[in-house]
Amino acid sequence: NIPHSDAFVFFGATGDLAYKKIFPALQAMILHNDLNVPIIGVARSDWTLDKLREHARDSLEHNGGVDEHAFTRLSALLQYVDGDYQDAATFDQLKLALNGAIRPLHYLAIHPGMFGTVVQALAKSGCTKNARVIVEKPFGRDLATAHELNCALRSAFPEESILRIDHYLGKEAIMNILYFRFANSFLEPIWNRNYIDSVQITLSEDFGVNERGAFYETTGCLRDVVQNHLFQIVALLAMEPPSYRGYAAVHTQKAEVFRAMCALKPNDLVRGQYIGYREEPGVAADSDVETFCALRLFIDSWRWAGVPWYLRSGKFMRESVAEVLIQLKPPPSKLFADSQPTSGRANYLRFWLSPNSGIALAARVKREGKEFVGDQHELYLGGERIIRRETETPYERLLSDAMAGNGALFASEDAVEAAWAVVDPVLTSHCPVHLYQPYSWGPGAADVLIAPNGNWHNPGPGHVGA
Ligand code: BG6
Repeated sequence: NIPHSDAFVFFGATGDLAYKKIFPALQAMILHNDLNVPIIGVARSDWTLDKLREHARDSLEHNGGVDEHAFTRLSALLQYVDGDYQDAATFDQLKLALNGAIRPLHYLAIHPGMFGTVVQALAKSGCTKNARVIVEKPFGRDLATAHELNCALRSAFPEESILRIDHYLGKEAIMNILYFRFANSFLEPIWNRNYIDSVQITLSEDFGVNERGAFYETTGCLRDVVQNHLFQIVALLAMEPPSYRGYAAVHTQKAEVFRAMCALKPNDLVRGQYIGYREEPGVAADSDVETFCALRLFIDSWRWAGVPWYLRSGKFMRESVAEVLIQLKPPPSKLFADSQPTSGRANYLRFWLSPNSGIALAARVKREGKEFVGDQHELYLGGERIIRRETETPYERLLSDAMAGNGALFASEDAVEAAWAVVDPVLTSHCPVHLYQPYSWGPGAADVLIAPNGNWHNPGPGHVGA
């Protein structure tokens, strides 16, 4: 019986994240009767509450639309504290605005460089007692800085009150990986190194870094999406069954996956950069930051030893899709002339994660006639071929969970640090960066990486049956 938070405080109220994600999520929570507590925006922008309200309306107009009734409620619940995060007076004001709330939720939607300062000031002003805190990725930029960040948070909050947002964990299709694996019994016998040949995960986007060039220069694809979003998907696919109901059990099993991952070596990684990236605003003319990355990793566990996991992600690729393909081994002998299709993919399981969500199981089925010749079919799980789009956005779901103190869909301290330990050795290894054409599937070196296990599955538009 975990108590709900009784105030929602967000630092960075005038910033980009608040504009794009937080205001729309707050409106949706109000609409679904999931939020009825003071909402306090904090920023150092010299704004007034009225300006913040106008800004909130503008945010909603540009991100899904305004619901007048919900917006009226949002405006009434909204308060604004303006001030420098280094100044104790800002936190005195916040205390006043909290008006006796005893279990606030503080959302740090600010530059990670400010996390330590804000957390300390919150603690000093007495605002951390019984409170929870949400932090946004990136959780550090390597193992050492992630550890520093965790120490700063832990100096003021117990681990169960720290909610690290990886919005991928709030996506319907990704939650379905956990559900599908453990709500069915037929998968378990084959879900291991004896039947699975390899796994590949693609997260591609058909646009460049846009106005985020300066951010990307300090981050790169490996840090931006691979070490977090893609690794979280790997953990859900690879984890052992949790031994009891409860999110701590899921966290423990996921962290075990990261701990069992072999640290990456330079030849496990292909870095790419789209042609034209160096001309983007905020990008150095000689930048070697990767906008694409493909890697091969191994999980050295009883279940997975020897099975390669291929992950790739990139900006400005052919399609915007996210997909997992679990490639099963071929039958032990080739009884039929066509039983080994040239692509080598007789049986696989495909999870479409985005833009649609769904699961397909591929098998060969005999064609009518005298010959023992067949065709490849995909069996679509979920009834209809077209799978429903998300109804609740990841941010709405995650913020509701955070208010309710449900940490299931957040990243834990051990998992984050263990994941950094896997990529740490290649962060500074200066692997060469291969240029690739915009709207392509990335550099040829990524095809060479996967060649021992076939080729990448390049999903087509619409994604279903492609
Ligand atoms: C973010 C990255 O975490 O995830 C972005 O910073 C990326 O670079 C985004 O585009 C992808 O998220 P989604 O939900 O659009 O697939």
